[in-house]
Amino acid sequence: LTGIQTLLLSRIRDVADHPEPGVMFKDITPLLADPAAFSALSDVLSGIARSTGATKIVGLEARGFILGAPVAVRAGLGFIPVRKAGKLPGATLSQAYDLEYGSAEIEVHAEDLTERDRVLVIDDVLATGGTAEASLKLIRRAGAEVVGLAVLMELGFLGGRARVEPALAGAPLEALLTV
Ligand code: PRP
Ligand code: MG
Repeated sequence: LTGIQTLLLSRIRDVADHPEPGVMFKDITPLLADPAAFSALSDVLSGIARSTGATKIVGLEARGFILGAPVAVRAGLGFIPVRKAGKLPGATLSQAYDLEYGSAEIEVHAEDLTERDRVLVIDDVLATGGTAEASLKLIRRAGAEVVGLAVLMELGFLGGRARVEPALAGAPLEALLTV
């Protein structure tokens, strides 16, 4: 592990049996509360935004908003929220996806993305990959180009990387930590 990876990992708290029995929740609130760690994370993600040539940052509600917004500001890029269905007031594109039980839906304001945009998607965790995959489909349907997906943490045992790879279509998946 690099020094930054060690710092980030030390600020992620494992919470057993949350939100339900058998699940080990990765709590990033200690990282957010530590200005050195949060700033270091924003720096690394901003570097990825620059190297991919992104013109927009898409953050996935809710924790992707917290991580993505400072990256957009730092990299000098616009920030676009992908929200859970029913929250955005304007004309939206929606994308449904399957969960272990049932389904979910996310939306983006259609006018926020154009054919000229190169989008980096940011979220905290890649688990099954369902949320990220749906966001990548939304971005493509809006006509924009996906230049990458960046997550703080990839839960390797859930196979999210394989799920998102087709939707990435060759764009990189950058996971700062793999657990
Ligand atoms: C969590 C996490 C990722 C997603 C990963 O979000 O923040 O966005 O699940 O899971 P997946 O890869 O299986 O789709 P969640 O919707 O639980 O909560 P949040 O609103 O706090 O981000
Ligand atoms: Mg989330």
